Formats: sequence, structure tokens, C-alpha cells
Amino acid sequence: MGLNGKLKPAARVSGRRQDVWSIINEAAAASPKQPIVNMGQGFFGYNPPDFILNAAKQALDRVDCNQYSPTKGRPRLKKAIADAYSPFWGRKLNPETEVTITTGANEGMLSAFMAFIEDGDEVIIFEPFFDQYISNIEMPGGKIVYVPMHPPKNGATDNTSAGDWTIDFGELERAITPRTKMIVLNTPHNPVGKVFTREELQKIADLCVKNEIIILSDEVYDRLFYVPFTRIATLSPEVERLTLTVGSAGKNFYATGWRVGWLMGPAELIQYVAAAHTRICYSSVSPLQEACAVGFEQADAEGFWDLCVRDMKAKMDRFNAVWHELGLPYSEPEGGYFVLVNMSKVKLPDGYPFPPHVAERPRDFRLAWFLIQEVGVAAIPPTEFYTDANAPSVEDYLRFAVCKPDDVLETAKERLRGLRKYIQE
Ligand SMILES: Cc1ncc(COP(=O)(O)O)c(C=O)c1O
Repeated sequence: MGLNGKLKPAARVSGRRQDVWSIINEAAAASPKQPIVNMGQGFFGYNPPDFILNAAKQALDRVDCNQYSPTKGRPRLKKAIADAYSPFWGRKLNPETEVTITTGANEGMLSAFMAFIEDGDEVIIFEPFFDQYISNIEMPGGKIVYVPMHPPKNGATDNTSAGDWTIDFGELERAITPRTKMIVLNTPHNPVGKVFTREELQKIADLCVKNEIIILSDEVYDRLFYVPFTRIATLSPEVERLTLTVGSAGKNFYATGWRVGWLMGPAELIQYVAAAHTRICYSSVSPLQEACAVGFEQADAEGFWDLCVRDMKAKMDRFNAVWHELGLPYSEPEGGYFVLVNMSKVKLPDGYPFPPHVAERPRDFRLAWFLIQEVGVAAIPPTEFYTDANAPSVEDYLRFAVCKPDDVLETAKERLRGLRKYIQE
């Protein structure tokens, strides 16, 4: 029963339709195929490497690591991040003014929107989008303007590349108004796996420079790329002046539950992000900031960044072999750990008993439900990351997260072979 009268909750947290995570978790709990192989949410099925885990354990023994950190983050972590990223920027980043630590990338982005968005300011985001952007923008009163990424035309019949998902730059330009304050970019992209090319980034950046638009570049998968990766802030000083780059130690170090993230950017912008962060949560988890500092300090010497790419690419190839077996086309990721698979050839049996809240959603929700019930593998329906108007373009796709142990990937493949009897050429 809902709360009424004076107890009525605020609109910003109530009245939304049931979100994808609760639908999928509920389906998983109700499935006869237990335990479900969960390839839905993007959490890792294995631990951070020992050098980082040990640093966390040691930090817990230190008095100062169990107390408040400075609101902008622990000096050691800010320095480690500035040192790690200075080579990409081609100059020394100032850890005191150009880096601020946040409680995961998500709270970092909320802080950025809280810092710059006033009622009615417009923020452009590309579809599909990471779902948390929406409420993070709406909470300070922002108006979201959506620009779709277009799937490859032959995505239902051929294996394609995540790079084939394209932006229509005419559409992007037409979306810009005098009230456009920010644009959110995500590269490598969740859920598409696209790594934006330098040319695409330059076109986006040119529009932002021309119209004085702040670029919030969500680069949480920045250590997982299988084609050349460009950071938009590094294109030119004019672009850097407008760019806030978002990072996530959770994604970098296989520790999404640690909730350590950061924003980098020009001091004039970062100071206000830090001010918003102070108001939201004051500071972030101290011992885990310390462990992440050690992570950045030692990653190169440990060969960790190369290992990340090698391991994840091997997982991607191992898992995607099953689509070749089944003849189901997928979009080959250029980065990150998600793969989109086109299931238009999967025929859902007539009269299948979908519950009403699934039956009324686009076909990908029915596909996801069906996979959970019949083969015991959970995946995410990507129309959740689109507006209703553009959702039909991806309703045959499902998103799988491959950041799982190899034996889990093999179990998933074995189960997915059970789809064969439902596939029609
Ligand atoms: C594109 C994107 N941005 C941000 C985040 C959130 O990162 P964090 O866990 O550091 O808040 C995620 C997590 O899935 C993501 O996929």
C-alpha cells in the first residue's frame, strides 16, 4: 500500500514503473532452474587482485584510515590518480585542484549535475543510457534531451561491431538549444560496447565548444578497450576546459561494492563538483580509498592494466563462441564487459504464460523472462535504457555481462544451447 497524505513520498522517488533490476531478480527467484546463472547486472564474479585486497586489509589496521577522509578525497589517492592519468593528458595533473574523489562514479555524476544544473537546464544524453543518469539529472531539476544511437541495419542477420552503432550528428546538433548546459558521453559504452572514435569525439567536442556545453565523459570502463581508445578531454585545451571525466575504482579494480570513484577536470569546474559532493555525503569510504591508491601506484608494475584487457577479451571470446554455434548474431564489443545479442530468430511459444508486468513491456523483457524460466540464464533487456519512442529499435536484443569466472561462462553456454529448439531461421 502506498503512503498518502502528509506521508506521501516525493515524486523523485515514487511513481516510477517497476525497474528492470527488480523484474529480473524477481524472475530469477521464481525460476524452476536454480541456481540461475546471472549474467544480468555488471558485477564481477571474482575478487580484486591480491595486491589491492591486501592493501585494503592493511588499511583497516590504521587509525587514520578508519576515520573521515577529507571531503575531496585522501591526498594519497588523488595523487595516485593524477600520476596515473597525467601521461594521457600529456601534462602533470594537479591532484589538489583537478581531481576529486566520490562515492563511486554514480555519486560523482550526481555531484556534477547538482553542481551545474538549475531548474529547466537541458542535458543531452545518448540512448541507450546508463539508467542512473536519468534520476541524477532530474533531481536538480534538469530536463533530459535524448539523442538515439542507431543500431546497425543488419544487426538481426549478421554479426556486427559495436562501432557500427552510430550517432546522427545532424540529430545531435538539432537537439542543442540555448538552455543546453551539459552533455553526457559514455565511452567505452554500456550496454553497446562502443568505443567512440577520435573523429566522432571531435565532432561532439566541436559542437560543445561552439555552444559552451559542459561535457561529462563517463569513462568508467576506461581500462577495458579492444580498439584504440581516446579520452575526449585530451583532444585540445578548448575541449579540456569544458570536460569532466568520470572514473570508477569499482570497475577498474573488480570491486563495484567499494564505492570509490572520481572526477577529473579543470579546477574551475572540479571545485563545484566537490562542493556538491560535500553536501551529498561529505566524504567517501576511507580504507578503500587507501587501497585504491595502492592499486593505482602498483598497477603498472604488476602488469595489471594489460592483464585486465587480456582477461576480459578472453572472457568475451569464450562466451561469444556460443552465438556462433547457435547462429545468433551479436554486436562485437570494442570495450567494456557487456555484449548485445540479437534474438530475433528466437521464437517465443504462442500462449507462453508471461506475467502481466512483463507481457506489457517490449519483446526483450519477454525474451529475458523466457531465458530465465526455460534455460536458467539471466540477461538484461536493453529497451530499459531507451525512451519508449526509440525502444523498438533494440527490442530483439539482450545484454549479457561477461565479467564472471570462466566456469560460470561455460555453464551459461551449456544452458544457452537449450535455446536451439526455439531458433527459427
Ligand atoms: C556507464 C556506467 N557509468 C557509471 C556506472 C557506475 O559506476 P560506480 O559503480 O562506480 O558508481 C556504471 C555501472 O554499471 C556504468 O555502467
